[in-house]
Amino acid sequence: MAAFAALWESLLPIGRDPVTGGYHRIAWSEPELRCRAWFTHEAERRDLTVERDGNGNLFAWWVEGRGQAVLTGSHFDSVPGGGAFDGPLGIVSAFAALDLLRAEGYRPAHPIGIAAFAEEEGSRFGISCLGSRLLSGEIDPDRARVLADAEGVTFAEAVTADLGPGALDAFRIGRDDALLGRIGCFVELHVEQGRALDVPVGVAGAIWPHGRWRLDFAGRGDHAGSTRLEDRHDPMQPFGHAVIAAREAAERHGARATIGRVNTVPGGTNVIASHVTAWLDARGPGDEVVRATVAEIRERVSLAAAFHGVEFGLTPESYTPLVDFDPDLRKRMLAALGGVPVLPTAAGHDAGILAARLPTAMLFVRNPTGVSHAPEEHVTEEDCMAGVAALAAVLRDLAGA
Ligand code: GLV
Ligand code: MN
Ligand code: MN
Repeated sequence: MAAFAALWESLLPIGRDPVTGGYHRIAWSEPELRCRAWFTHEAERRDLTVERDGNGNLFAWWVEGRGQAVLTGSHFDSVPGGGAFDGPLGIVSAFAALDLLRAEGYRPAHPIGIAAFAEEEGSRFGISCLGSRLLSGEIDPDRARVLADAEGVTFAEAVTADLGPGALDAFRIGRDDALLGRIGCFVELHVEQGRALDVPVGVAGAIWPHGRWRLDFAGRGDHAGSTRLEDRHDPMQPFGHAVIAAREAAERHGARATIGRVNTVPGGTNVIASHVTAWLDARGPGDEVVRATVAEIRERVSLAAAFHGVEFGLTPESYTPLVDFDPDLRKRMLAALGGVPVLPTAAGHDAGILAARLPTAMLFVRNPTGVSHAPEEHVTEEDCMAGVAALAAVLRDLAGA
């Protein structure tokens, strides 16, 4: 399995910050497009048929056998400064598993596909799993076309401007039943993102419900020195309350709530901001828990905003309800793997979105640091190989012989 290490190493330099070691593979950026070119190259080297769907997702098909395909894979794009494994591990492991099966002389009874889904993190256009949401009809194409990045470039503009491996026609994005109909099931291998797995490989139970909300605070710009405290309409004040309310509400309701991104306008040290925009990520074991957490945050921040004479708005941007992965597929995988732990996850995945359209499942590979979305995210080479072996076993079972 030296082949896994070589394959992994060949992808590793793309988009890596040499100082922090974090990855910047933002959807339709130059590094992410290089990852797609890497995908096409690896697929063609193996005589796989490369297909770009109309939504920015890439597929490599081992066209063998008949009927619906068994699909595996994950995503290349990262959060800003993310780890190497979240996403790419599932794609590299898929190629390595296919190599392993072929080296054993295996011929599948059903086609096997490898997918690279677009904008899974939502780091550029704000909506996570955008590629799989479009494919499965979970987002209105009209809404997707006008999603804008931090520079104001819309999704439609970004994908149309690209003439390379990410190019697509923004007027033709949306649900693709013909493609979905060719897929029998999807199994995504992923690095485990918490501290829940203490053996090399596990299987996903459910994905916690999770969503994103935008917080807008409109105040009045003014001078940091000459404006008396009682005359201010400072949007940073209720914003500060929001950060604390998120933490306290999450603690009270048994949820997770995070504000990890904020823009201040105009952003001067000696200027009282006129406007603050921030984003809340909230998740919990059940929909009711998430709803109650967000409701409490809204109420507390509204009071703080009124006190400071600031206008406050909370706008939902995306929500993914609880996903319980297909029980029959999970049972079959557990039988093929001979008893590995089943664990829930608080992270979102394309497999969770596609679960609305077809049977999906996930394999998790141990993360000894327990850190994710940061450079410390890690998987040992030994565990990577255990993941490849597990994925090969699952594909062999699902695709038949
Ligand atoms: C993706 O990793 C997410 O859970 O936000
Ligand atoms: Mn992620
Ligand atoms: Mn991921």
